[in-house]
Order: sequence, then C-alpha cells, then structure tokens
Amino acid sequence: MDDLIEKFGLDDDERARRLEFLGFTQEDAQKLRSIHKMAVEHADEIIDQLYEHLFKFDETRAFFMQTGVLERIKEFQKQYFIRLTEGIADRDYFENRLRVGDTHQRIELLPQWYLGLYSRYFHLIVEQIVKNGSTDRALEVIPSLLKLIFLDIGLAMDAYIRGGFIDKLRQEQRVSEELRQELARKERLAILGQLAGGVGHELRNPLAAMQASLYYLRMALPADDAKIQRHIGLLEYEANSANDIIGNLLDFSRIRQPELARIRVIDLVEDVLRRSDLSGIRVEQETQGTSILADPIQIRQVLSNLVTNAIQAMHGGGTLRVTARREGGEVQIAVQDTGGGIAPDVLRKIFQPLFTTKAKGIGLGLAVCESLVQANAGRITVASTLGEGSTFTIHLKDGVAES
Ligand code: HEM
Repeated sequence: MDDLIEKFGLDDDERARRLEFLGFTQEDAQKLRSIHKMAVEHADEIIDQLYEHLFKFDETRAFFMQTGVLERIKEFQKQYFIRLTEGIADRDYFENRLRVGDTHQRIELLPQWYLGLYSRYFHLIVEQIVKNGSTDRALEVIPSLLKLIFLDIGLAMDAYIRGGFIDKLRQEQRVSEELRQELARKERLAILGQLAGGVGHELRNPLAAMQASLYYLRMALPADDAKIQRHIGLLEYEANSANDIIGNLLDFSRIRQPELARIRVIDLVEDVLRRSDLSGIRVEQETQGTSILADPIQIRQVLSNLVTNAIQAMHGGGTLRVTARREGGEVQIAVQDTGGGIAPDVLRKIFQPLFTTKAKGIGLGLAVCESLVQANAGRITVASTLGEGSTFTIHLKDGVAES
C-alpha cells in the first residue's frame, strides 16, 4: 500500500501547520474525549440515521445496491466517526483520513455527497450531546468538533484532487460541452439548410426567366449600340453571380449521400484546373500516384471551390500549388496560394455558414466544402500566414489503402 502521507507531502511540519491553522490544541482534544463514551454508546443509532438519509437520495442509494457490503461499510464508518472523539490527530489519523477520502474518490462518489454527510453527522452528534448532556456542553464541544471535521474535509479534498477524480470530472465536463456545441451546430446547420433550400428554390425560376429575357433583349436590341450592349453585359454578369449564389444555397441545402469511387487525384485536379481561369497564375502540381475513395462529383466541387478561392486571393498574380500525399491511411490534398493570407480571427470562423469577407457572395462556399468533405468521411483544415498565403487541405480516405 502506498504511504499516502508521503505521497501527499504531509510530513511532520505540514501536519503541525494544518492543525495550527485550524487552531486545534490539546484543549480541543480534551473536550472531544469528554464526549467519547457517549459517541460510542450512540454510534449505531447515528449510523442508522445516516443510512436512512443516504437511502433517501438516488445519487447516494445507488452505491449500496450490492447486498452484503453494507454491514461491513457501516462498521468502518462507525469506527471512523468514533475516532473523531478520540482527540488524537497524529500521523496515523491523517493517513486514515486520506485513505478514506481516496477510497471515495476511487468509487467516484461526487464530493457534494461525501462532504454533505459530514454535515449530517455533525447535526446528529450535536443532537445527542444536547439530549444526553446539555446545551452548554454542546456549545463547549462544537468548536473542537468542527476543527477536526474541517481537518477531515481538507484531507478528503486533497485525496479527491490528487487522486485524479476531479481531473476526470473536468474532462467529462469538457467532452459534454463539446458534444453540446456540436449538436447545436448541427441543429443550426439543419435550419439554415432548410432556409437556404427554400430561398434558392423560390429564386431559381424568376432568375431563369430574367436570364431568358436578357438573351432575347441582346438579340432584339441594336448590336451596334455600345451603351445598350454594355448595360446588357452588366445585367448578364450580375444575373450569373446571382445564379452562383442560388447554386450555393441549393448545394448547401441538399448534400446527397456520396457515391464512393476510387479516383486518381491527378484526374480530378487536372479537370478542375482546365476549367479555371488561370491567367497570370503560375501552377505547380504534385499529385502523381495518389488516389482517394470518395464521390468524384462532390470532391471535384470542393476542389473547384478551393482553387477559385486561391485564385481570387492572389488578385491575378502568384503561384497556385496543388499537392497530394499519402499519410496514415488518408490522402491529403492541399491547395496552396501565395495571396495575402487570412487573419487568425477570420481563420477561426472561415467554415461557419454565412461568414464571408467577400463583397460578393453569402459565405456558404467553404461551409458547403466542409459539409461535402465530411459527408465523404473526411475533414478539411486550413493554415495561413498573413503576407505569405494560405493552404486548404482536404483529408480523405486513401484509395490505395482501402483496396
Ligand atoms: C462523511 C462522509 C463519509 C465517511 C466519513 C465515510 C466513511 C467510510 C469508511 C471509513 C469506509 C471504509 C473505507 C475503506 O474501506 O477504505 C467507507 C467506505 C465506503 N463508503 Fe463511505 N463515508 C462517507 C460518505 C459516504 C457516502 C455519502 C457514500 C455513498 C453515497 C459512501 C459510500 C461508501 C462505499 C460504497 C464504501 C465502500 C467502498 C469500497 O470499499 O469499495 N460513503 N466509507
């Protein structure tokens, strides 16, 4: 058995210091001894009352469901409380209190129930002193009793903190908070998805009608009137932007189940680059020999979005680098630009729906990317340095490892 006194650093000096702080003296010890006989005589009665109390509460009753252990524990507890009235706060006493505290933190009894029972015991013993002695006697003994009970509580707290139970509680709290946040995020996304779908659907038809009319107008109006043609061009440009936004809204609202296939990354990347406007951009590509297990249409859309963002970040000049590498069962496809980079406070929110720094767009592009990658059992990460550029990396199942 570990020596808890040593483990907790409670050497002679430290123990004396604690007693000194509580003001516990030989006089207190004497007073406690004066009620010892009475405490022994009524110990069974007090313990029975304590158990009556423990059985009233689900949280404490649960610890005594195993039959057979009860009588044994009751006897230990009886001896524990009797010891309070022996008035001997020596090394062995400290060790015993630490050990009992340690036992309770190991069975994961929450501190509020453990410490609460001291209050119950205090109440019952004072009641006995008044009944069998007098109120004056009780008033005389109470301060000494409290000093020792607080010493016990302090040692129990030591055992709880050092034993690791408090850390475990903190950890559980963190996990449940993360789960709660994740659930809230999912709920928000679901509501937003419904709204986006509704709005997108309602706007699609009117916009299609406007685009058809524009087409007619371009044909019908004089082709040599530069001013008219310029305005029609502007209208078409804006209608196309609106169309992209509606596309984003609809994408966001209905991410379908992915149809997984083994795809060579190089094919995907080359297809995306072919369709991108790369004027003024130097392209580097290193994706040979990698393949992923994912839905080709969905991942092409993600890559296309990331490449478009990268190009826009470089304002017509810079290097776009697309690489893929295998690592621990996944393939990491990185899209790197040499644009201005993203500030840390922006970076934190960048995948949140409706968050945008662009004058145009409603901030669903990266949210859609994240949802699509997640639907493919992957994840997307970002790293960025102001003045140097950004790298978005999608992590997906390795198509080779899976085969
Ligand atoms: C002032 C508060 C308490 C004191 C002084 C106390 C005292 C003790 C003592 C002396 C033991 C035997 C220790 C050992 O074997 O190392 C014990 C064991 C036990 N106590 Fe307590 N106890 C207190 C509160 C509680 C409460 C509130 C519960 C349950 C709700 C509880 C449940 C148990 C159980 C289940 C054991 C057996 C642990 C095991 O051996 O696995 N105790 N207690």
